[in-house]
Amino acid sequence: MLKNVMDRLPLNDGYTIPGIGFGTSGIPDRDAEELIFMAIMRGYRLIDTASWYKNEEGVGRGIKKAINAGISREDIFVVSKVWKDEMGYHETAEAFERSYERLGLDYIDLYLIHWPSSKERENLETWRALEELKDSGRVRSIGVSNFNRGELNEILKESRVKPSVNQLPVNPENSNADLDDFCYSNNIVVMGYSPLGAGKVNKDKKLATIGNKYYKSPAQIALKWSIDRDVVPIPKTSHAERMVENLELFDFELTEEDMELLNSIDQQNDSSRKRKDDNQGRRHGSRRS
Ligand SMILES: NC(=O)c1ccc[n+]([C@@H]2O[C@H](COP(=O)([O-])OP(=O)(O)OC[C@H]3O[C@@H](n4cnc5c(N)ncnc54)[C@H](OP(=O)(O)O)[C@@H]3O)[C@@H](O)[C@H]2O)c1
Repeated sequence: MLKNVMDRLPLNDGYTIPGIGFGTSGIPDRDAEELIFMAIMRGYRLIDTASWYKNEEGVGRGIKKAINAGISREDIFVVSKVWKDEMGYHETAEAFERSYERLGLDYIDLYLIHWPSSKERENLETWRALEELKDSGRVRSIGVSNFNRGELNEILKESRVKPSVNQLPVNPENSNADLDDFCYSNNIVVMGYSPLGAGKVNKDKKLATIGNKYYKSPAQIALKWSIDRDVVPIPKTSHAERMVENLELFDFELTEEDMELLNSIDQQNDSSRKRKDDNQGRRHGSRRS
């Protein structure tokens, strides 16, 4: 389990990933440089972007500004993604060149397939391009996003390199617990997108009740819950004070009862109810340690 904001989780290819990150979807390119710089200077070390977000240039400038201000490139973990209309072996190789150029960095830490394709073999062809990018060293780790069990199995069975990460929506109201379990058992780290339910968690009464005990906001409780499940949350905010709030997670601990209550919020999901029993093992001695 993460003990502080600089802790990292191991990936299945020997690299490590920060335990919490900063999302950039919806941040316009013109604002990205300043917001990303601010986020890194406030302690974020993972920045999540995508060609689809149309802000890679601004994100790259923000990262370079932080490096110029003294943060080591090695400490910053940069994620980008190939979009739906860039899928296929050659198309992906070209899409990567465009993202690489826009970001303007020496390497990208993690490159993801943003969404699975429904076309036969297109995920595999795209994956082959990602494997070669990893071989080239311009991408350190490769992974997927929004892949279900079947789509992951196809890659696991037919490819040379396993995905290191599956980026999925994960928050107490949408735990994706079954898929998270599958990823965990295959040594694939889950990055949790929309960890605040795109802002909705702040209205959740159970989160507010637990938060009151620790003088924490519902958003902080949701993020702590993710971290305690070894999911890497990537909250997005355009506000400096929320950037700080969303990192103030390491001066309190959720109890087993808190986790049981939080795991029960997603009533749609059988596995999340089952998690009540499994939870202790996951919280005490991180499952990845
Ligand atoms: N792979 C994918 O398909 C995929 C899909 C969606 C998202 N993502 C990634 O995941 C990141 C995060 O997901 P998201 O942007 O959908 O949602 P989110 O991080 O769950 O929520 C962001 C929303 O919550 C608000 N917020 C942030 N901190 C808050 C706080 N402490 N208290 C109250 N409200 C707060 C933000 O408003 P303000 O900005 O006004 O503070 C924003 O409206 C994205 O930025 C993107 O990088 C990936």
